Amino acid sequence: MFVLVLFTCIVLRAFNAQAKVVESFDDCKGFFYKDTEPEGMDQNAKKICQKLEYDQYYYATLYSVPRRIPLYSAFTFDPECSGTAGRTENWHIEPQISQPESRTDHMVRERDSDENIIKKYQAISSDYINSRYNHGLLNPNSFQCNKGRIATLTLTNAAPIDESFDRIQWKNSESALRSFLRSKLDSHGGSATVYIVTGTVPDDDVQIPRKGTSEDPERVTVPSYIWTAICYKHHHNDTKSFSFGYIGKNQPGGGISLMRVSDLNEKLSSLYRKLLKTHQSIKIFVGDCFDDSEKLNEVQGVFEKLIKPNQVDEMATDVQNMSRTQKRVVRSPYYSKITVGGSRCTDGDFCSQGGEDYYWCYTDDGIFFYTWDYCSPPGVVGSRAKNGEYCRSNYACSTYGSDYKWCYTQSDNNDMCCTSDNCFSAVNDKTCWSNHPCGYHGQDYLWCYTDDKGNWEYCCKNCY
Ligand SMILES: *[C@@H]1O[C@H](CO)[C@@H](O)[C@H](O)[C@H]1NC(C)=O
Ligand SMILES: *[C@@H]1O[C@H](CO)[C@@H](O)[C@H](O)[C@H]1NC(C)=O
Repeated sequence: MFVLVLFTCIVLRAFNAQAKVVESFDDCKGFFYKDTEPEGMDQNAKKICQKLEYDQYYYATLYSVPRRIPLYSAFTFDPECSGTAGRTENWHIEPQISQPESRTDHMVRERDSDENIIKKYQAISSDYINSRYNHGLLNPNSFQCNKGRIATLTLTNAAPIDESFDRIQWKNSESALRSFLRSKLDSHGGSATVYIVTGTVPDDDVQIPRKGTSEDPERVTVPSYIWTAICYKHHHNDTKSFSFGYIGKNQPGGGISLMRVSDLNEKLSSLYRKLLKTHQSIKIFVGDCFDDSEKLNEVQGVFEKLIKPNQVDEMATDVQNMSRTQKRVVRSPYYSKITVGGSRCTDGDFCSQGGEDYYWCYTDDGIFFYTWDYCSPPGVVGSRAKNGEYCRSNYACSTYGSDYKWCYTQSDNNDMCCTSDNCFSAVNDKTCWSNHPCGYHGQDYLWCYTDDKGNWEYCCKNCY
């Protein structure tokens, strides 16, 4: 009996030692500068050494189970592969997050798993549907090669990133970072290791799916900020080693600020203090990895050039084209100069569709990048949300990048909406059946029949 117990212990220990969800990052510490993980984030978060079946470790992730998002992923940069070729849409999940006793010590494909078991402790793809947030990858697909690229496509490496912030500011910063690091490595004959940590700052007040859009809402925490810290360690000559970081607000047009790693530590510590209401002191790299303001100036110069030239040109023509169009537009009194985020549209630009199927304009908020934001379509006034409240004046009923129309109301709710303030306007641009104006009709929400066959839709004004 004793022998059996002992044997079981040994087997369990041996098994634990190679498990994917780990007690310590020892198995994959090589992804951290000086084998040392960042300090000062949530000590209860799960540690994952990310790997595929029968394979090596590719990166390390700290995962917050209650929020169902990673707090960071740590990885090294592989300059040999870039671009996004080889991308698949096979999302993975981590069995041991949802079932710690599971023997499956590697990520598995989401579609081969039991959704009901998995979703209890981690996000699943359907949490992101219709949310206006992308599954943003902390360890980006384009920074890895071959199977390493497949290993980035796991929901434990993904957090909700605002669609437009992801598409513009974050993707731009990623590709600028990639070009910057490749040219640095080239100039040093490849004789350096680049340690990167990309993380989130959770906002515990915002979750997806939003209420009313899913049977199981508010599961996945949306980050307020996304950040990246880079430690470039030269193999032989530390005067060539350096570090820097940047952070961006996770919202349309959220500007990205470049800073020293020591300043990023400070910024993150103060954001985490607000979040956790405890004294947090975050340290991303040991000794801040050759943090130096002169080197930051150099990085900043190069980085800015990488991001700006094409885009500024493109933007200039775009704005010229728009200005041309503007002359033909009758200046509507409802025309919006202020975006949904409260920024001013850049002088010479105006709220238009400009090739997209929603209204937007350029703003002056960007520090390194051009920025844009959604704005209210001209001519829509007095639109209401389906809770009966008026949409805000700078947030008229529109799609704002989503596939349905919605708006923010005075009381800070966001909801589906009706584009006209009348008794027969329903959400999704439908109209009420002429014999059945919008009202509560015995329910606790506004609705109307849209035809005489019993089909109905939410609507926005109590006319009954
Ligand atoms: C290290 O790099 C600096 C700056 O690039 C250079 O001036 C110095 O000579 C190098 N030292 C060695 C030992 O190669
Ligand atoms: C601007 O307009 C010109 C002429 O209509 C067109 O050829 C060009 O592609 C447009 N540029 C952009 C960036 O939309």
